[in-house]
Amino acid sequence: MAILPAGLFILILQCLDTVNAGKVTVNNNPQVRVTTNFTNWDARIMDQWSKGGGQNWTIGEGHPFQGRSFGGATRDKIKGTSAYGSGYPYGSVTDLNTISGRPFPYGVWPIYWGNNFMGSDEYGPQNDGIRPGGQLVIIPLKGDPNYYPNLPADDTYYAIGDRDSTLGIMVSFVTWCHVKPAWPSKFQPTSPNSTVKIENVITYYRASSFALASPNYNNTAARTPFTNDPTSLPESIQASKVWQCLDSVVSNALMIMNPPPPKPESLGVTLGIIFGVLGLPILVALTWFGCILVAWGGNIKKRVERGKELKRQEAERRKAALAYENYP
Ligand SMILES: *[C@@H]1O[C@H](CO)[C@@H](O)[C@H](O)[C@H]1NC(C)=O
Repeated sequence: MAILPAGLFILILQCLDTVNAGKVTVNNNPQVRVTTNFTNWDARIMDQWSKGGGQNWTIGEGHPFQGRSFGGATRDKIKGTSAYGSGYPYGSVTDLNTISGRPFPYGVWPIYWGNNFMGSDEYGPQNDGIRPGGQLVIIPLKGDPNYYPNLPADDTYYAIGDRDSTLGIMVSFVTWCHVKPAWPSKFQPTSPNSTVKIENVITYYRASSFALASPNYNNTAARTPFTNDPTSLPESIQASKVWQCLDSVVSNALMIMNPPPPKPESLGVTLGIIFGVLGLPILVALTWFGCILVAWGGNIKKRVERGKELKRQEAERRKAALAYENYP
């Protein structure tokens, strides 16, 4: 007689375990929400390692860049050259001498160099309050000598970009490129003691919104717009393992605008809402139903697996039904 309550207790534990096992997991990539319209809370998301792509969108009314397109660019076009205004997959065709008025293919604005260089004043500090990813910052990057035994003492690089993208990619730099951890400071290009000048940029990425630079590269051609022949990159940089790694990590991981998810069918939304509200009770009921079947002699493992599968499906449905990122 005592066996029955004990068996029931174990059964309850099993069932509780089934419910917990299907917990919705949160994607923990570094991300930035880009809000360009005040009609609702929907926003586009910039995501580290995103492949980008999808349709491009238009910035809403009242925004300083109202009417410009943004998003839609794919990761394979992220890498530019040493010329400011490079790295644009679209939007740079009409006038290579200016960066003014261009769209934002990856969702982010170009770096600001001051003195209205190539018409860049519109991306200046007066708009830092809404710069996607936050104000411009700079981080020094030096390889860890414990990892690179023959590292030259002056093998130094700098990353310049918006705060959130730069902090996000810094984790990858430290993890993959074994650079010494360092924190960003405000990038002040017009300050006389600014460490990095426009002629130090080795490569621009993501529509000129992110750059890697080195004091060992002095490309004077960069001071005049686009068309000039750049100084070739010194051998020491080309051969540097640190440089090669930084360049590859930025190309592969720097956050870019996600494509919008496909709009769910209206039936899907309805089902999503039903599952969103009643999903847990339904699943608890289903799980208990499963457990009762088990109590009648079914295969417990199979039932538990089925419970997990239902939870997983429910999580998928809920995600699809959120209509998240769906812009008006
Ligand atoms: C690069 O070279 C030019 C010409 O020699 C010089 O005026 C400039 O200060 C140099 N830039 C840097 C950042 O060293």
